[in-house]
Parts: sequence; structure tokens; C-alpha cells
Amino acid sequence: MPFALRELSYLVAAVFFIIGLKRLSSPATAVQGYRLSGLGMVLAIVLALLDQGIVSYQVIVAGIVVGGGLGLWMARSVKMTSMPQMVALLNGFGGGASLLVGGAEFLKSEVAGEALPLDVSITIQLSVVIGAVTLTGSLIAFAKLQELLSGRPITFPLQKVVNALLFLGIIVLGGMQVMEAESVATLFYAVAGLALLLGILVVIPIGGADMPVVISLLNSYSGIAASMTGFVIRNDVLIIAGALVGSSGIILSQIMCKAMNRSLANVLFGAFGGEVKGSIAASAEGLTVRQVTAEDAAVQLAYAQQVIVVPGYGLAVAQAQHLVRELADLIEKRGGVVKYAIHPVAGRMPGHMNVLLAEANVPYDKLFDMDEINAEFERTDVALVIGANDVVNPAARTDTGSPIYGMPILNVDHAKSTIVMKRGMGSGFAGIENALFFDPKTSMLFGDAKQSLSKLVTEIKAL
Ligand code: TAP
Repeated sequence: MPFALRELSYLVAAVFFIIGLKRLSSPATAVQGYRLSGLGMVLAIVLALLDQGIVSYQVIVAGIVVGGGLGLWMARSVKMTSMPQMVALLNGFGGGASLLVGGAEFLKSEVAGEALPLDVSITIQLSVVIGAVTLTGSLIAFAKLQELLSGRPITFPLQKVVNALLFLGIIVLGGMQVMEAESVATLFYAVAGLALLLGILVVIPIGGADMPVVISLLNSYSGIAASMTGFVIRNDVLIIAGALVGSSGIILSQIMCKAMNRSLANVLFGAFGGEVKGSIAASAEGLTVRQVTAEDAAVQLAYAQQVIVVPGYGLAVAQAQHLVRELADLIEKRGGVVKYAIHPVAGRMPGHMNVLLAEANVPYDKLFDMDEINAEFERTDVALVIGANDVVNPAARTDTGSPIYGMPILNVDHAKSTIVMKRGMGSGFAGIENALFFDPKTSMLFGDAKQSLSKLVTEIKAL
């Protein structure tokens, strides 16, 4: 293929990626964004296949069949609540691919006995190191979220010092490798081994609660590794696509940290979520929880002028999104207004609640971000909290000793009344008590969200 045509086609694929990414910023254009990016990827793959002749087409087709088949099976069978670990695994594969491509390029030069140019040698090292850290770090993140490993921070004495030494070792040995006139396989394997170990050690001390941020960060690393690999194999579209993943992953990590009022450094080194904190538990004696029956809650909702639904992780667990929509339709038919308040870190992954509600075809214009809706709680008759906990915990505003102090929350306690739907008095991801449940304006409707919503729907229909 002529060079100019190939470069132009790669540019078109890269433009598709960029426009696709931009369109993902709104639910209304997100599907189009996915299609455009997918088209860009197909174009990039076809071009790479025409362009490169490293392996035979039989091997490529076998890879596509096996990899594509596995991917299809995983995507179809994964539960919505297990999506973060699936993303972790895919990030790990991305990092692993960069490690293998970088490694293969190194071995090629080794076998041919050729000295690598300095720039290629540096990018191979970077692609191998970042790819290796991403691979093992993502596998640990997967294992923690899948509960194959404890979700609690795993710590040991001098952990940070050990990690710092490992990092230093990688830089020194990697530097020696790059500076050597001839490639030294032992150094190469040592660097790769240390990077694989570092990936494990940097992720084990991070608590399960912070894992989504880590996954987003590892996603960014997988992009940077891919970008480096693009330099190694001189593939422009891989450089651009990797850079896009790298930068968007960093931005997303920052957004998540901001929404939790934490710094990235605190997430990475804070070992948050180690012990269960019970600031209220100690003083909960004397505080009472008011329970409500589905019949009474249904009457309250049916005659409310405005209801704000606050979805949380429990709604995703219960998979009750369709029933929420049905309930909202019934309230609206009776003349009430229903809005949805979306906290940026509700659930377990960015946009979790948006995706969940979109599945039930809840119109986008009824979904409001925290800043848009917080002032409205005061004039709201019922705030209906479904499986949310930390994102509505007033301790974030008032309790300076609380681990979530300073995290912006939805002002549910400002509503005229609140109904909280959850199975019991279980804590949320941060492992802390919630004063909202003891508020005199709050009624608790205990039970699995799906069953409770189904009862509410039946009751309202019968009114
Ligand atoms: P959580 O605070 O985790 O609370 C979820 C609540 O749902 C639990 O208290 C649980 O109480 C209830 N629940 C579980 N299964 C249920 C079911 N089947 N039916 C009804 N209720 C059920 O959720 P949230 O308010 O959405 O907050 C999210 C948390 O995750 C925050 O701490 C946030 O910082 C953290 N986090 C989120 C992200 C992203 S990107 N979303 C990233 C990192 C961290 P019961 O056991 O009593 O039922």
C-alpha cells in the first residue's frame, strides 16, 4: 500500500476515535460515538493487516476467532455489577499485549544480533515496563473485586520503601539496558520481572472501595503502554489511540477522586477502607429508625407533587431499574413530577446509574447531576433513596472525623420526607454508619429493592 494512502487512512481512523470519544460525553450521542470509534478500529485493524506481514493470515484469523469468541462470551455473560472487574481484566490484557509486542521486538533484535537504535530501545523498555505493571496490577484489581482476594488493603512493613526500591531498580536496570551497545537479555528479563512484581505490590495495599479509581488509572496506563508500543512498531494510529486512552483514563481518575473529595495520592497510598468505621454506631443507642410499610410508602408517593429518586449501588445489585421506571410512570400518571438525582460516584463505576437507568429507557432529561438538583430537595415532597448509602450520608458535610468528610453529597436530608429502600442497616462501600437513617423525616422500607419496588407498584395501582 502506498505510504501516503496508508498514513491518510490511519489519520481517518484516528479522527474517528477522537470524534467518537467526544460523542461519548452525552448519553444522547453516546451510541453514535461507540459506532464511530468502532468504525475507526475496524479501519485501523484492516490497515494493520494489509500493512504488516509479521505473522501469517491463518494465525491472525485463529486469533480473531479465539479472542473475539472469548470477548463475546465474556461481554454477554458478565453481570452489570461485575463490569468493573471485567474492565480490569481487559485493561490487563491491553497491558499484557504491550508487554508481549515490546518483548517480541526485543527478542527479534536479539536473535538477529542487531543493536537497537536508542529511541526504539527506550520505547521498548517503556512499553514492557508499563505493560507489565498494568498486567499484574489489573489482575490483582480483578481478584479483589471478584473477591478471590480480600478487598481490604493488604499491607506489610516498609511497603512503600520496597515499592520505591523496586521502581528504582527498574529505572537503573532499564537505563543500563538502553545504554548497552548490545542488547542484554538478562537485564531485559530482570526489568520485566521487577515490573510484574511492582504491579502486584502497588495494587495490593489499595482497598476495594478505591478499586474503580485504580482501574481507571490502570486503563490510562494500558493506553500509555499501547502508545509506546505504537512507537516501537511505528504505527501512528496505535500511538494516537493509546494517547487518547492514556489521557482520558487520567482525567476520569481525577473526576472520580474529586467526587470522593480524595487526592489521587491518597487513593494510591492511603490504604483506605481497612477497618469498618462506625462513628454513629457507638452513639446509635437511643437513636431510632422509623420503618414504613409498602402500603404507607405507596400512599406517600402517590400523593406527592414532586419525587426525587436517588439511585445507588443497591439498585444495580437488585437489577430493579425497570421497576423504578414503572413506579415513576405511575406517579406521573397521577400528576406528580419525578426526577432522578445522579451522584458522580453512585454505584461502582463512572456513569453506573446513567447506564442502569438508560437500560430501562428513563428519559435523559429526567436525570440531573448533583449540582443541578441539590437545591431542589427543599421543595421535594419525597426523596426516594434506592440502594444508595454513602452518596447521601450527611456525615460528609458535618463529621470532620468521617472518612468521607468533604465528599459532596446529594442533599436528601433537606427534602420534606425521605424513604430509604435497602435490605437492612448494612453500611455502604465506605463501611460507615449513616445518620440519614435515624433522621425523624426518614422512613426505612426494608427489603430487596426489586421486591420492595414491586410491592410499591402493586399498591399504587390499587389506589
Ligand atoms: P453504597 O454506599 O455502596 O451503598 C449501597 C447500599 O445498597 C448498601 O448500604 C446496601 O445496604 C444496599 N443494598 C445492597 N444490595 C441491595 C439490594 N439488593 N436491595 C436494596 N438495597 C441494597 O452505594 P452508593 O450510595 O451508590 O455509593 C457508592 C460508593 O462507592 C461510594 O462510597 C463511592 O465513593 C464508592 N465508589 C464509587 C465509584 C464509582 S466510579 N461509582 C468509584 C469508587 C468508589 P443493605 O446491605 O442494608 O441492603
